[in-house]
Amino acid sequence: MSQRVKVKQILADDRTQYEVTVKGWVRSFRNNQFIALNDGSTNNNLQIVIDAENTDQALVKRITTGAAISVTGEIIPSLGKGQRVELKAASLEILGDCDPEKYPLQLKNKPSLEYLREIAHLRFRTNTFGAIFRLRHALAFAVHKFFNDRGFVYLHTPIITASDAEGAGEMFRVTTLDLNNPPRTESGDINFKEDFFGRSTNLTVSGQLEGELGAMAFGDIYTFGPTFRAENSNTARHLAEFWMIEPEMAFYELEDNMDLAEAFIKFVIGYILENNREDLDFLAARLVEEEKQKPQQERSEMGLIEKLEFVLHNEFVRITYTEAIDILKNSKPNKNKKFQYLIEGWGADLQSEHERYLVEKHFKKPVILTDYPKEIKSFYMKLNDDGKTVRAMDVLFPGIGEMVGGSQREENYDKLVERMKDMHVPADELSWYLDTRRFGTAPHSGFGLGFERLMLFVTGMSNIRDVIPFPRTPKSAEF
Ligand code: 4AD
Ligand code: MG
Repeated sequence: MSQRVKVKQILADDRTQYEVTVKGWVRSFRNNQFIALNDGSTNNNLQIVIDAENTDQALVKRITTGAAISVTGEIIPSLGKGQRVELKAASLEILGDCDPEKYPLQLKNKPSLEYLREIAHLRFRTNTFGAIFRLRHALAFAVHKFFNDRGFVYLHTPIITASDAEGAGEMFRVTTLDLNNPPRTESGDINFKEDFFGRSTNLTVSGQLEGELGAMAFGDIYTFGPTFRAENSNTARHLAEFWMIEPEMAFYELEDNMDLAEAFIKFVIGYILENNREDLDFLAARLVEEEKQKPQQERSEMGLIEKLEFVLHNEFVRITYTEAIDILKNSKPNKNKKFQYLIEGWGADLQSEHERYLVEKHFKKPVILTDYPKEIKSFYMKLNDDGKTVRAMDVLFPGIGEMVGGSQREENYDKLVERMKDMHVPADELSWYLDTRRFGTAPHSGFGLGFERLMLFVTGMSNIRDVIPFPRTPKSAEF
């Protein structure tokens, strides 16, 4: 019995004249002779040559696009164009038939991304999604490598929690109560105290608060897990369920935090450029085709690989919110229209059009914005001496907008409690969190990077639904 070998390995091997077994799915079958077989290890198919005349015709009929097959034979040099080697089939077995009349992925018409979103359960079998999700795997691996190499502890923070880390109220409630007939308090409210957890619970919006507990013991930790936001945003940048990477470091000030965020993003981009070039090149070529559909003036100046190399070799711009407002006030995004909204005053939150203007038109680089007005940021951020701004940092990326949100944390107990009062965050429910400030408090910082936003940047895809295997958005969560 010859050994099962992955197509990627066969194509990378210099040898010929050896026997293998391959298993995978038929991408196409031409001239009753040539099968293009894909096994998911690479977008490159292995050409299999069968001797149709000496093969059972009933079997040949079952070699259809999408069918799962197992083939044993010899790897030989290929005479045809397009491949160095091919597999001369000695035996072929159909593992699973695929009815060509019913299979939604016939290659004759290239399916649109929108159509593939409707059949997300099958889209892994296309080259585009093959490349995207192999890259997603590699990027996740690079995330762990970066932190592991630096001695960070990977901390698993809870999915079910009773706290609203961002204080924004965008939570999915979790309950074991029968909501058709819930227990009530005397005043008629639902009595969540009778719930399994004894109180109202929700899916986590961020692992940060628990991450801070870890940082105050291990020094450096990171989380990497799913987070949930019940915001009704139907955009190409928002998901209801997304993955976030949240490092939290004791003894880090804001500058150290910025340095780490920049080094981290550069490392993971460098990693995939070095290790996943084939899939990146595929997506780069896909993007070139997509750009051709756009009017000339809207086309990107750089290709995907160039864009990644650019980020790798250029320093991010670092400016304060106040400096950004000045730039925006004095800019003319359109011929004669200024950003009216911001001219009205310091203190307004930046809209995505402002962020994009800064990174795409003004600096043409990733930008780290710091020191935002305290009113528009979360309660846990450290107050600056001016009493007006907090030590926040957002990393903005061309084509993406906000990729990272983070800050130095308020380590002073009294100041934190004061901020919580101001922002109506219930201090009694977060007593465990406040313990870090009661017992051996220390300066510390951290940030959260949205994994799918990073995926958008490295794949050149434009819709966040196309970079997560099973997107959950207000209008799509079918399986
Ligand atoms: O800015 P956010 O809300 O920050 C936090 O959650 C902090 N607790 C992080 C921390 O300091 N540990 O979210 C962080 C990042 C954003 O910059 C964005 O990249 C991503 O998470 N993000 C989303 N990604 C996809 N869909 C959504 N609905 C997202 N909301 C935030
Ligand atoms: Mg944010």
